[in-house]
Parts: sequence; structure tokens; C-alpha cells
Amino acid sequence: MGIDSVSILGGSGFVGRHLTARLVACGLECRVVTRNLHRHRAIQAGGGVTLVEADPFEPGQLESAIQGTQAVINLVGILNESGAKEHFKKIHIELGNRVVDACKDTGIDRLLHMSALNANEANGPSVYLKTKGEAENRTHTLGQPQIKVTSFRPSVIFGPDDSFFNRFAGLLKTVPGPFPLACPDARFSPVYVGDVAAAFADSINERKTWGKHYQLCGPRSFSLKELVEYTARHAGIRKQIIGLNDTLSRLQAKVMGMMPGRPFTYDNYLSLQVDSVCTNDGLAELGVIATDIDAVAPYFLAPLAQRPRYQLLRRLT
Ligand SMILES: NC(=O)c1ccc[n+]([C@@H]2O[C@H](COP(=O)([O-])OP(=O)(O)OC[C@H]3O[C@@H](n4cnc5c(N)ncnc54)[C@H](OP(=O)(O)O)[C@@H]3O)[C@@H](O)[C@H]2O)c1
Repeated sequence: MGIDSVSILGGSGFVGRHLTARLVACGLECRVVTRNLHRHRAIQAGGGVTLVEADPFEPGQLESAIQGTQAVINLVGILNESGAKEHFKKIHIELGNRVVDACKDTGIDRLLHMSALNANEANGPSVYLKTKGEAENRTHTLGQPQIKVTSFRPSVIFGPDDSFFNRFAGLLKTVPGPFPLACPDARFSPVYVGDVAAAFADSINERKTWGKHYQLCGPRSFSLKELVEYTARHAGIRKQIIGLNDTLSRLQAKVMGMMPGRPFTYDNYLSLQVDSVCTNDGLAELGVIATDIDAVAPYFLAPLAQRPRYQLLRRLT
């Protein structure tokens, strides 16, 4: 018999909201585990979803939250550290270990894990990518033999409520004068959030995905400068975009890393030193047809042209 109930950690986030909707549409009972029940109540509105509040670092809370479901999806991740409580090792590695232990304690033997393209424990260029790599490796090895793990390694993920195109649209509208862009030649293959959700949903009951690591990319790759120009064009923002050289890119990362909200950090700069493009096509392996940015992004970028600046600014924080 197949899996028909799943706990989703990080289900309240960008990917989590799309994935939960997809899983519900596939007939699965979803339990979204969140640290803040009140903030995310709306997730339950459509039915098929139960919200459970838990602090995954408090003894016993994670186990109680996932008890009784047949699978767990771990989407929790942070792009920037903030303070002693929110650091990469804790959120990626320690939490990843706790999820595996909680699965063992509750007898859950199916686990889908969200990693990132270029995650690499030994050679990742940034702490983000190193810790994502270590978390991915540990989830697979600590889970053996009883837990069947599948992990996913996406490039940057886009969709109507993403923090990539929307963030750049906000910055382009807010920054006065020409827009100074760090790491303009870094390459990405943006992958549609609906395709990422399909990859997870289609894998959950597929034996052939056990133990596998899937790279997830869109059909085309672009430089960062091309993507920011694309954002400006479709959001109706006339702006000169100036690619910074390496020295100025480092400097910008150091300065912006000290600003409120840390819009760009030195660790982000380091992550951009490797191209975020796939070396094999995980979506095709899973039978998912990759969606081009042209099919989606213009439709959510165009309305931003009408939005007041303060609303776009709110999306940046
Ligand atoms: N977005 C991308 O372009 C992209 C690309 C590659 C990989 N990824 C990976 O995909 C995953 C999801 O990304 P996303 O963009 O959906 O992120 P997101 O919108 O920031 O959501 C992440 C969720 O994780 C939970 N979370 C955050 N900090 C936590 C903490 N300290 N303890 C417990 N839970 C915490 C939050 O849930 P609550 O607040 O409800 O507890 C939040 O909703 C991450 O692992 C990320 O590294 C994303």
C-alpha cells in the first residue's frame, strides 16, 4: 500500500506552500510542522492540511509532531545566518540529524530531503553549501538501513512568491541611479517551484528514487546579469545594470552583509563562485517536463510595475 500521509517541515515557506498544495491535490493528508501556528493558519484553509506547532530543537516535540504520518519531508533551510540561534550548522546539520532520529523513534521509514545544487561537504565554496552538503550526506547515511531517503538539489527556484525575481524587482525599484550588481557572470538554471513540487510528489511512492540525489534545473541557463535585466524588462523598470568586478563584488557583499536584513552576504558571494547549473537532468529522470521562465515569470513580474515602492520594499525584509 502507498504512502497517504506526510509531515512537512518548512511547509510554511515558499517551496513548502506549493508542495503542500500539490500533495493535497494528489490525495495525501499533509501535516505542516511550524514554529508559529498563528502566523501560518491560512495554510489549513483549503482542507487536507493540519498545522502542528513544534520547536524541532526541543526534546520530544518533533517526534510528537510527526508521529502517525507515513513519511517526512524536510525543507528547512536558511540562506543567511542571524545570531547564535540561526546558524548554518544548527539549522542544516543538527536539525537534519534530529529529523532522522525522530523518524527512527516514530517508525517512519520514508524521508525526502531538500538540499541545494552544488551542496558539497568537502569542497563547497561557502558555509551554506558545505553545511547543506553535510546535511544531505548525513541524512542518507544515518538513515540506513531502515529509512529510505531521497534528496533534491535545485538551482534557484522561481514562482509568483519567490525571493529571487521579486527581490531583484524590489531592489531595482528602490536603489537610486544605476544598479550595481555583484557576481554578474554567475550562472543559474532557474527551476519552477511547481516542477520542484512535482518532483517531490512523484517520488514519494516511487521505489526507484530510494537512495537517489536528484539535481533540479530549468531548461535554460542564464548569467545573473541576464536574469536581473530580464526582471527589469518584465517589471517595467528602466534601469542601467552595472556588473561589478570581483573586488567590488566582495566589497559589496561585506557592506550589504552588515545592513539590516543582510540582503547580500560574503557567504552568498562565495556560493556564487560556482555556477548553479545541472550536470544531469533530475526532472527528466522523474518524468517532469521543465517549465521555462518565459511561461511564468512575466505574469508575476508585470503587475509589480504598478506596485508602490513600499510594498516591494516589504518583500525584501
Ligand atoms: N528558494 C530557492 O531558490 C532554493 C534553492 C535551492 C535550495 N533551496 C532549499 O529549499 C528549502 C526551502 O526553501 P524556501 O525558499 O521555501 O525557504 P523559506 O521560504 O525560507 O522556508 C523555509 C521554512 O523553514 C522553516 N525554518 C526556517 N528557519 C527555521 C528554524 N530555525 N527552525 C525550524 N524551522 C525553520 C520555516 O518554517 P516555520 O517558520 O513555519 O517554522 C520556513 O517556512 C531550503 O532548505 C533551501 O535551502 C531553496
